[in-house]
Amino acid sequence: MNHRTDRRAFLRAAGAVVGGLTLFPETADGRQKGKNAANGGYVLPSNLAMYNALSLVFGRAGDRAITANLFAQDKLEAVVEYGTQPNKYSSRTPPVTLATGQPLEMAINDLRPGTRYYYRLLSRKPGESAFHARPECQFHTRRPVGSSFTFCVQGDSHPERPQMSEPNLYARTLQHAAGCRPDLYFCMGDDFSVDKVRTVSADSLAAPYLLQRPFLSLVAQFASLYLVNGNHEQASLFNYNQTDERHEVAVGVQTARNRFFPMPATDGIYTGDTKELKGIGLLRDYFAWTWGDALFVVLDNYWHSQAIVDSGFKGGGNKKATDDKKNRDWWGITLGDEQYHWFRKTLEGSRARYKFVFAHHVMGTGRGGVEASENYEWGGKSKGKSTAGEFKKHRPGWELPVHQLMAKHGVSIFFQGHDHLYARQIRDGVIYQEVPLPADPTYTAFNDDAYTSGTKLANSGYLRVSVSPEEAKVDYVRSWLPKDETSSQKTGDIAHSYSVKPRT
Ligand SMILES: [Fe+2]
Ligand SMILES: [Fe+2]
Repeated sequence: MNHRTDRRAFLRAAGAVVGGLTLFPETADGRQKGKNAANGGYVLPSNLAMYNALSLVFGRAGDRAITANLFAQDKLEAVVEYGTQPNKYSSRTPPVTLATGQPLEMAINDLRPGTRYYYRLLSRKPGESAFHARPECQFHTRRPVGSSFTFCVQGDSHPERPQMSEPNLYARTLQHAAGCRPDLYFCMGDDFSVDKVRTVSADSLAAPYLLQRPFLSLVAQFASLYLVNGNHEQASLFNYNQTDERHEVAVGVQTARNRFFPMPATDGIYTGDTKELKGIGLLRDYFAWTWGDALFVVLDNYWHSQAIVDSGFKGGGNKKATDDKKNRDWWGITLGDEQYHWFRKTLEGSRARYKFVFAHHVMGTGRGGVEASENYEWGGKSKGKSTAGEFKKHRPGWELPVHQLMAKHGVSIFFQGHDHLYARQIRDGVIYQEVPLPADPTYTAFNDDAYTSGTKLANSGYLRVSVSPEEAKVDYVRSWLPKDETSSQKTGDIAHSYSVKPRT
């Protein structure tokens, strides 16, 4: 679409916030165009097809409420019945009508803090009198200090890349993680790539989000989901600031992200980005909260950097390369003043015994963990150059580079993706944990030469973190396609484990 021709129509089609009203796609037959957009055959195994028809994704879990984002391919009426005992549902939500291809957020309120709930999702088609019940699932409200719980983390899922992502293996990983009954589930980014988009439209930009809905619902019907922004999402300030179709890309992808997945914004539980962007509203891109004895911080590498951070958008009519990595201004790549100062205050003000920080990558680009953490705003050094006064000059008002700030405040683990392998390193007491791919059918350790220390292991699988007052134990849980399992390699095997002690 030409940027100048019909901007308002575009925003309407993207379901954007315009003039305070949320406008959703409208088509002649009332169906969302492109709901079955080409997905390159990346579909759930047939035994899980019901999640294509109807899916539930939790987010924004709190003390007394959780948000369920519901999505149905065809018009349905839905109800959630729930209670604190298995198979006994003492409460139910009012029924909601799901329009064809339109996500809908439903808050489940008046819950008890620190409580496990059991629930069933019921649905019926127009004209049906009886509801159909899904198997029982669970969710948990916010844990109090001193309690034990589990959270899980997946690395880049890259469904657009068949060479490193296989849908049956992805479903297998997600289902295995769901079996751990995590309270929280994190995706490290590069889950909604628009690399394959050639014609920019609301439908083409929303397609990666539609594709992931049934997959991520496998675990997010049990766990509150948190998305970390990756470089391939192209949700960035650099794109937003362009005057060509890259602006529409930034608006369209972030709008789709926040429609299809219930990300947090500042409220009584979460703190985060409070700025609204025209055409999008709240970005919901960085946020923090406590859960049990742990502080969780999700950072965003892309929405606050005027300079391009990693690869540019090369689809649509934008054939010019914008990601000249050799000549880029590395000091221009930034989390931004606002996010940095919020991060500093969040760490300073936290008395949590564990601090877990998530970002797609150190600096949002490059390769490696502790190796990259020395440089620019993350570590204060200009690569290969004398560094006296450089940091103060480039980041006036910043107390410390990001790494030194994390070390000062006792960050337990910094989680990142982007490099596509399992790697665990340590610098100044901060663990740098590269998270493996969930669905790589080649079981490769990509980019392992960028990691010059620590433990490195090949894909695929996810991380399970079991937090208790005494320790937080990290397990790398392997995942294999059935054809690749042997007596010595099975889904669920633990490839590597370590524990971190609480830091007070
Ligand atoms: Fe990636
Ligand atoms: Fe990446």
